[in-house]
Amino acid sequence: MADYRMDADHPGVAATRGVQNVLGKPLDRIDGVAKVTGTAPYGYERRVEGDIAYGFAITAPAAKGAVRNIDTDAARALPGVIDIIVDDPRIARQAAAFAPAATGNDRIDHWDQVIGVAVAETFEAARAAARAVVVDIAVEEGRYDTLAGRNDASPPPKDSRLQDRTIGDFDGAMADGEITLDQSYSTPNHVHAAMEPHASIARWDDGALTVWSSLQILSNARNILAQAFDLPHDKVRVISPYIGGGFGGKGGIGPETVLAVIAAQKLGRPVKIAMTRQQLFHNVYRRTDTHQRLRLAADAEGRLTALGHDSLLSQGPDGGFMEPVALGSLGLYGAPARRFTHRVVTLDMVMAGAVRAPGEAVGMLALESAMDEMAEKVGLDPIEFRKRNEPEVDPTTGKPFSSRRFIECLETGAERFGWDRREATPGMRREGEWLIGMGVAGAFRINLLVTGKARVQLMPDGTATVETDMTDIGTGTYTVTAQVAGEALGLPVEQVKVALGDTAFPPGSGSGGSFGAAATASSVALACEDIVAELAKRMDADPADMTLKDGHAIAGNRRVPFSELVGSAPIEGLGTIEQGRNAETYSQAAYGAQFAEVAVNAVTGEVRVRRMLGVFDAGRILNYKTAHSQAIGGMIWGIGYALHEDAVLDKRTGQFVNHDLGEYHIPAHADVPPLDVLFLEEPDLHANPVGVKGLGELSISGAGAAVTNAIYNACGVRVRDFPLTLDKII
Ligand code: MOS
Repeated sequence: MADYRMDADHPGVAATRGVQNVLGKPLDRIDGVAKVTGTAPYGYERRVEGDIAYGFAITAPAAKGAVRNIDTDAARALPGVIDIIVDDPRIARQAAAFAPAATGNDRIDHWDQVIGVAVAETFEAARAAARAVVVDIAVEEGRYDTLAGRNDASPPPKDSRLQDRTIGDFDGAMADGEITLDQSYSTPNHVHAAMEPHASIARWDDGALTVWSSLQILSNARNILAQAFDLPHDKVRVISPYIGGGFGGKGGIGPETVLAVIAAQKLGRPVKIAMTRQQLFHNVYRRTDTHQRLRLAADAEGRLTALGHDSLLSQGPDGGFMEPVALGSLGLYGAPARRFTHRVVTLDMVMAGAVRAPGEAVGMLALESAMDEMAEKVGLDPIEFRKRNEPEVDPTTGKPFSSRRFIECLETGAERFGWDRREATPGMRREGEWLIGMGVAGAFRINLLVTGKARVQLMPDGTATVETDMTDIGTGTYTVTAQVAGEALGLPVEQVKVALGDTAFPPGSGSGGSFGAAATASSVALACEDIVAELAKRMDADPADMTLKDGHAIAGNRRVPFSELVGSAPIEGLGTIEQGRNAETYSQAAYGAQFAEVAVNAVTGEVRVRRMLGVFDAGRILNYKTAHSQAIGGMIWGIGYALHEDAVLDKRTGQFVNHDLGEYHIPAHADVPPLDVLFLEEPDLHANPVGVKGLGELSISGAGAAVTNAIYNACGVRVRDFPLTLDKII
């Protein structure tokens, strides 16, 4: 068994030797045809054995109160209705959370809370029944305003990585700073807005539960279900081979998963449920609103002497997650005096959780806006200002960087983007009604490694299969997995069969936190090393003297096809990658530089992003095409955070008033200009055996700030409350 714990640097696995020359190549997705032809079965579409029934969630029309009565008579009388289930104590108040608390449905603590399920012979009948249920709630006054609650805000829990940190004499450095900045920035609630809504099918067979769903991390889902339904792990199977986006919202299970399991158990039939878009806004954890204070002090040469980042956040009554807003500020710029705090206000809202680059996505909007403002104050070009504050070691922990090419990202990007054409003074470039500006921002995302396992088999026919419960949330996992195995075993990707998304396979990392590619590529590559060793034995050769190419093992003057070497039973490899002391030894992050050019209409305040460039230092790139797709996707999110996304909270009732994609705006095609992406590739073998670093969330980080800094450069208006809608700019 090939196991590796990153206690020391890895020399690089066989897959990185590059003999086969498929690793890194911009191959099309191997699952692409199945997806675009509708033959890839997503959770809700799965045809399962049994007489399936349809469920529809019943939700509460209030944000806080006691449930006085639930009248189901009218609903039960409708045609096709099988059952209305509102009294099962396992219908969790926090069904949206990673781990639902089985607290029953007598209390309401967030708007549209799931309190039951209507089950019928058709989807339409279930929906009609759910809407015919009359819920009587004694509505109580709730807390819906983060700023109003700031005096009662709580510090992070004791063991949190977000403990307050003060390094040096921060207050003194601010007081003595030759040039200082003290500004507040805010970001609103955000939702995941995955294209595929949360949807699940549940079926019970002799006390064993199978769930088909759309989930990011199947071991999480299995643990939650085993606990909630008091089952041993081997009685729970979760299947999720295709996922139409997750973005953090599918990291645990969805409320509909709980409902489907309960209904299927009670009725003895498989039950399928999809959440509606409107229900998702209030029943899947949101990204908290943030209220951030950035304080910077610098000397006359533009060297930072102090950097402070204080954040006020919100959370639901039962939530544990805290948005790590300052992650980027901890590690990006040097400044001897530093201060970071997070405080959280409890609101009567659905819990806040992980949404698309938790921490950096919103933290870097503020930090990189502040850096742009400070560059102007100290009279330096924003790139030069950043270069002067490049630390030699992690500025908060003092640890060496595992790899860091931040300055190179800035310089390479400046050259490619034509930064020298930028006017230092705002408002200098004009084309008719349009003011043109350019902006830059740094990008930073912590790099994580979580445990992942994979099984690889070299089959008697000479092809390979890979199995892991890792998921592909649209990122290209199937394809890069095939590339890693193909590279390691000397097989073209067509001869590698990849099976993902089923807890019957060895547990992978799942998708989240941009850690999926590192764990999956590493575990697959390690598993292949087992196979390589066995092939070498059968070839009677030293593995180092053997080459695998086009399905053959080559040693000396012998070239033997795998089918001949394997025999009747597959050769199996099992690979496990684990984080070890390297997490402590090195400061591990991915870096980048984001550039934007915008046009701001001088009459209306309308913003058009004209072009963007992202230059990323994300370690080894496993597939240039899927990596490029990740990067432009992240940059589009940056546009969304800067200009569009805003879940508007009605502070009287606690509901998001724009709870659909018609009114919660995300960038449309017309909002997205040509996006240019460049990777400064360098494997980071301090991080994992394949040397990849997280990319998806890196590409979000800083992208929004590049846009807002460009807006300032265009028109001289600095907006600090996101999103930057035209009413704020004009
Ligand atoms: Mo992500 S927000 O860690 O899936």
